[in-house]
Amino acid sequence: MHQDAKKKAVAEAALTYVKPDTIVGVGTGSTVNFFIDALATMKDRITGAVSSSEASTERLKSHGIEVFELNEVDRLDVYIDGADEVTEHKHMIKGGGAALTREKIVAAVADSFICIVDDTKQVPVLGKFPLPVEVIPMARSYVARELVKLGGDPVYRQGVITDNGNVILDVHNLDILNPREMEATINNLAGVVTNGIFSLRGADVVLCASGNEIKTFT
Ligand code: A5P
Repeated sequence: MHQDAKKKAVAEAALTYVKPDTIVGVGTGSTVNFFIDALATMKDRITGAVSSSEASTERLKSHGIEVFELNEVDRLDVYIDGADEVTEHKHMIKGGGAALTREKIVAAVADSFICIVDDTKQVPVLGKFPLPVEVIPMARSYVARELVKLGGDPVYRQGVITDNGNVILDVHNLDILNPREMEATINNLAGVVTNGIFSLRGADVVLCASGNEIKTFT
């Protein structure tokens, strides 16, 4: 199956995790775009969505799905999102689309995180995909120097401003052998908003399109 066909298939499979009359947490990216399109087929059976980016909000609204502010809801049943890398322990790197901070916030509120990927995203160890780190603009150089001390090669993502008005450093050449420790260490640097390791709150279920089937990892 072509990669886009896999993304579409896994996105459609995620619909089984959406309960009627609930507000659905929706992530960001090309796989999630297929999910939003699929969610539109059952829009009359859900209350609406909370979105992790302006781009997803726009796509949800274009389908006539109501988008709620996160502060308006006390809980979310599920959060459905893609990933740039995922391990067998359901730890992920996210943020290729620069939406990592809002993704982490919405994921924190949800009872379960359903990660939807194709098999190109499965890795034994996180870190081949450059780790996105969202940084307050004035801290960019300081944080970059600290990331070098941690063994990484940070690259400023030119021309990108996040939905929160910050910048992204993409950290190359990190072997993330202990994702929880690395996630906490980077988040503790002054000026870091968050980093794209999702291990302290990883996925609960990974749906992975592989060959012609959807594999489920719980
Ligand atoms: C967005 O910031 C990311 O976390 C995405 O979830 C991730 O990059 C996966 O995107 P694709 O589905 O486009 O590969």
